[in-house]
Amino acid sequence: MTETRIAVLGTARIARTVAPHIHKADGAQLVGIASRDQSRAEAFAQEFNIPRTWGSYEEVIADDNVDAVYIPLPPSMHREWTERAAAAGKHVLCEKPVSANPGDTAAILDCCRANDVVFLDGVMWYHTPRAAEMLQVASSGQLGEIRQVNAVFTFRWDTWPMEDLRMQRSMGGGSLLDLGWYCVGAALMLLDDMPIRVSAWGQYINDVDTRMNAHMWFPGDRMATIECGFDTLRRRWVEVAGTKESLVCDDFTRPWKEDRPRFWIHDSDGVSTEHLCPTKPQEQCMVEEFCRLIRSGETDHPLLQRSLNTQIVCDALDRSARSEQPVEL
Ligand SMILES: NC(=O)c1ccc[n+]([C@@H]2O[C@H](COP(=O)([O-])OP(=O)(O)OC[C@H]3O[C@@H](n4cnc5c(N)ncnc54)[C@H](OP(=O)(O)O)[C@@H]3O)[C@@H](O)[C@H]2O)c1
Repeated sequence: MTETRIAVLGTARIARTVAPHIHKADGAQLVGIASRDQSRAEAFAQEFNIPRTWGSYEEVIADDNVDAVYIPLPPSMHREWTERAAAAGKHVLCEKPVSANPGDTAAILDCCRANDVVFLDGVMWYHTPRAAEMLQVASSGQLGEIRQVNAVFTFRWDTWPMEDLRMQRSMGGGSLLDLGWYCVGAALMLLDDMPIRVSAWGQYINDVDTRMNAHMWFPGDRMATIECGFDTLRRRWVEVAGTKESLVCDDFTRPWKEDRPRFWIHDSDGVSTEHLCPTKPQEQCMVEEFCRLIRSGETDHPLLQRSLNTQIVCDALDRSARSEQPVEL
């Protein structure tokens, strides 16, 4: 199998989680890491056994020995570096949120299509067998008519780290883009549709939402709620409720126990059935899917539309929360 030679732009925290899985992924080769600071790149490379380093992102884009880049930069930088990589013929695995607004995201996707390179956003759980099974259950009719999806993703900061990208609006911060992105994406995936109207309430520090609650109305009398925030304990669950049964997953964005990804089906009488979906780590699933898309030349794959739709809905929720008014889509 031809291996995709991947370089990382930036010594981000999330890159520390993903780098070992690029090493392990079938079809991928982790060839280098770039940083604004050469010594940071070198320290990272040493720690994660990466052969090459660069002291700037530009040098990676210009390097013919790199086929693809993994971009874990602040969201406000995703457009510039994706467009530069795509223009140089490099495929892009870009962290979520794809950008800070729908205009930038549409431009990113158009640019990648025009340059015939694969783009994939960094939501890992989509690529797991568990997500495929949950989707199969939700679309099979087993739950009856689907009426409702509820999704929650939160964690708690003891003190607000004002320098973190999540606390800076200019960098694409806020709990909606950081955590709500997963909840919105789950609702779009499991209802296989776009909402027609949304309303949201947010709490703000430093002009970024640190907590948000939102409703989404979907065609066919279906609804979804999402909750995201930086001020409650770590929770990451999703529920799909039908007229007969509900599907509950208490750790959809990342399994609490890596070797026991699971979800439950509940009925109306308290009977529940656990479904186990053992798999490789989700980072590895994502990187392997990225490389498969590259090998098969699928530059116009279906997840691109979900990335754009997720950004459009997040933008509508942001506008609703800030204006304290419902927003029509
Ligand atoms: N998929 C997931 O599970 C997951 C989990 C966590 C985060 N994320 C996403 O990954 C992205 C990065 O998040 P993170 O928490 O890992 O970020 P982070 O630790 O703050 O790292 C961001 C990196 O970007 C580079 N950078 C370049 N210009 C910068 C600037 N002006 N300010 C700050 N950093 C700059 C830095 O690398 P150098 O200095 O080395 O160049 C820095 O290490 C975000 O989009 C986030 O939503 C995804």
